[in-house]
Amino acid sequence: MSSNSQSIQFSDSDCDYQKYERSPIKKVNSGKEKESGQINVVSPKVQEANPKVQGANPKVQDTLTARDYYNLQPKNTETHRRISSLYYLRNFQNWVKAVLINEYSSALKQNFADKRNLLNVFEMGCGKGGDMQKWSKAGTGLWFGIDISDTSLKEAERRHKTQKEDKKKQIQKIYLMETKADSDSTLFRSRLPQDLYFDFVSMQFMANLLFSSEQAVENMFENITCRLTNQGIVLMTITDANVLVKKMREFTVKDNEGNYVYSKNQYFSLKFKNLQFPKNKPFGQQYYFYLEDSVGIKEDNQIKYVPEYLIELQSFEQKAKEYNLEIIENLNFIDFFEKYKQKHSNLLKIMVKPPSDDWKMPLDQWEIAHLYRVVVLRHLKGQAQSKIRRHPHLTELPDTVLELENE
Ligand SMILES: C[S@@+](CC[C@H](N)C(=O)[O-])C[C@H]1O[C@@H](n2cnc3c(N)ncnc32)[C@H](O)[C@@H]1O
Repeated sequence: MSSNSQSIQFSDSDCDYQKYERSPIKKVNSGKEKESGQINVVSPKVQEANPKVQGANPKVQDTLTARDYYNLQPKNTETHRRISSLYYLRNFQNWVKAVLINEYSSALKQNFADKRNLLNVFEMGCGKGGDMQKWSKAGTGLWFGIDISDTSLKEAERRHKTQKEDKKKQIQKIYLMETKADSDSTLFRSRLPQDLYFDFVSMQFMANLLFSSEQAVENMFENITCRLTNQGIVLMTITDANVLVKKMREFTVKDNEGNYVYSKNQYFSLKFKNLQFPKNKPFGQQYYFYLEDSVGIKEDNQIKYVPEYLIELQSFEQKAKEYNLEIIENLNFIDFFEKYKQKHSNLLKIMVKPPSDDWKMPLDQWEIAHLYRVVVLRHLKGQAQSKIRRHPHLTELPDTVLELENE
């Protein structure tokens, strides 16, 4: 074990903004869309991105627990997204998730001998089930979602019932459970039917809430892998610790309590109690995050942050290996966009909904996209995919199970 004086070296390689200068994306002509054009997403030049916020230093009032915050959330509907100032960013984030789901589900389904088979998917921190439809379109038969927010789970159940009327809907059964993904490593072994295994574990914008300690991370990995098939896939979107730390070191101001605060972008803010990260404590490195309409609250220019934890990639990779997981894709959102923008350009147009052909994502929203990273892992152990039960061969399970802790 290294000495306390040694610090984790967060990499600078992902923080060269000039690297992200890019040419416009050509719109791909489909049968329906005749005219050619472009979606242009511009590079994040942090210093120039926020002309409206000059040296802002909002007074930090306090923080909210993740559970309190996510229980407060209004319905995350298309109408709600449309009135959000971050409409395009949220659409872009949805595109990233849809590409991940499409890419990896079509690859995995190629191994199915019986083409009627549908996927079994386990979503940790599923929230209101906003990704259920993406999974349904990708050919999912059984979807199991857990979350700590009972209000979100009830909304997910409501959405599933509404979607049931849709004839194209493929999800036949859903399980919902109000529980923490990181507090108990025996949870899913004991509470799920014995013969239930998953092809995918999906953790979208939630893993940063779980890295509070080494034990919590181990519980999380145990819960991820205990029902994941051999060659099963874990899809994660997380904040990019390298980008966050670099940003904090270069652009922060100190608030009255001596915290480091980044508030150059009108839409998000970061707060760190310190910027030294001892090598012998790679887990439990807390920071506080606010992102308009998504994380935390701003009232009268005062922010209530939600506490999250840095995911330091080397320690993460090492710990994942202990659970027989290998990283197979690991990209900042900007690099992910570069890699998939042509292949999934139609989806990009449909989902991001640019208002015109020469439209560019505003710089302050692109800066937020740069805060995130995609990580995909493959399981090298576990039940053989050919042996697990999937639709139409599921055991007699009830249609929907909603387990709420206090009911
Ligand atoms: C940022 S939201 C993401 C929701 C959804 N995955 C998405 O992509 O829209 C984070 C979700 O994680 C849930 N969450 C937070 N801590 C959790 C924990 N320890 N275990 C399970 N879920 C948790 C929250 O209630 C919330 O629904």
